[in-house]
Amino acid sequence: MQRLTLLLTVVLFTAILADDSCRFNHPLYGVIDLASLGLRDGRARFQGITPASGLEYLYSFNPCYSFSEETCQNVAVCQISPDRRYSFELARQTSSSWSLDTSYRPTLNYTSGSKTVLITMVCSSADEDSLEVLGETRLNYYTMQLRSRCACWNGCAGRSSPFTTKLTSRVTTKPTTTRPSIYYSACQYHDSRYGTIDLSTIGNTNGGSVFKDVNSLYPNDYVWSYNPCYSFSEHQCKNVAGCQIDKMNQISYPIGYQSFVYWLNMNATSGLNPTIVYPITTSNRLLKVELICDRTSSANHHLQVVGETAVGEYYMRLTSPCACWNGCNERPSHPSFNWNVWAIIGIAGSVVFLLVVIMMTCLFCSKPKRQRFYTVMSEKTPILKY
Ligand SMILES: *[C@@H]1O[C@H](CO)[C@@H](O)[C@H](O)[C@H]1NC(C)=O
Ligand SMILES: *[C@@H]1O[C@H](CO)[C@@H](O)[C@H](O)[C@H]1NC(C)=O
Repeated sequence: MQRLTLLLTVVLFTAILADDSCRFNHPLYGVIDLASLGLRDGRARFQGITPASGLEYLYSFNPCYSFSEETCQNVAVCQISPDRRYSFELARQTSSSWSLDTSYRPTLNYTSGSKTVLITMVCSSADEDSLEVLGETRLNYYTMQLRSRCACWNGCAGRSSPFTTKLTSRVTTKPTTTRPSIYYSACQYHDSRYGTIDLSTIGNTNGGSVFKDVNSLYPNDYVWSYNPCYSFSEHQCKNVAGCQIDKMNQISYPIGYQSFVYWLNMNATSGLNPTIVYPITTSNRLLKVELICDRTSSANHHLQVVGETAVGEYYMRLTSPCACWNGCNERPSHPSFNWNVWAIIGIAGSVVFLLVVIMMTCLFCSKPKRQRFYTVMSEKTPILKY
């Protein structure tokens, strides 16, 4: 009996620790669990996704469980021609491995024959889970990004029912109480051990950048613009996080987008400042913004542009109280908006009232008494009667 219990415990333990395509156990960072993302009815959770690069094959992927679509039978990833006449099996759930990429992001590696499918986990606090397909980036080498709360360390660990990835319930998940709860977006980074870094009150929400046309430490032909949290457009840069503008040639280039953001040095190691990285997946450009916590510079956010420190790599330093753990709170979206609307109405009302008062004053003071009498008369008598 005891031996059976022991055997069962061992089997259970290995089952939990085993890395399959559903689950990645990392001794330091925690667990990635995709079981709650995958559909279990033989269909793909992400169906017919078009690569970012444009008209090419479509891709379907189901995390954790196998699916069938067109001629792909019991697969993990299927490639389908746009007219749906051809389809190719790219990966099976049984041939997977996990690793960390150079940015320490968990990556699911499916290999079958000569084909490799790499799916990078992009931790996101957005409610919608999404798959971004970068396509066949090299021959027989397919890359994708899975954006989800379940792509965060311990984001969905210990949960198996689909579509219950709610922010509040995650913190109370029993098997992960000893592990930190971490989630992030382009605006904030939360770690249950240290708190939250929230940049949403710095960023402009009006489509422009809060740091506009900033010169670098060593001024040259370029200026840079950057807006934390919200996308902006300037010149030829559309919906970007950062833009480089060539003063001479009047050309501008996006250097980072909010949607692909990840954070570095977030474990509060002294001497290493937290850094936000905004990559551009379709080109080799990348914007890194080092966050320098300064609780004294109340609401005085300062951006220093270091410049292009490596080919295609742009470096900036943002000094702000919001760069500190729990330095700034989230931007209150609705009350602030309402307050602004009422403020505008209030100001407009006051201006109109003042104008009326000034007009009345002019009317009563600068004109002789006779005319005042006349005015009062004409006000009481309806004009249309005549
Ligand atoms: C993916 O897995 C295969 C087989 O295990 C391995 O040869 C390859 O180097 C891996 N690729 C990456 C990027 O980890
Ligand atoms: C924090 O990160 C640094 C650099 O990545 C690493 O050397 C260190 O071991 C980490 N510390 C903890 C407590 O995870």
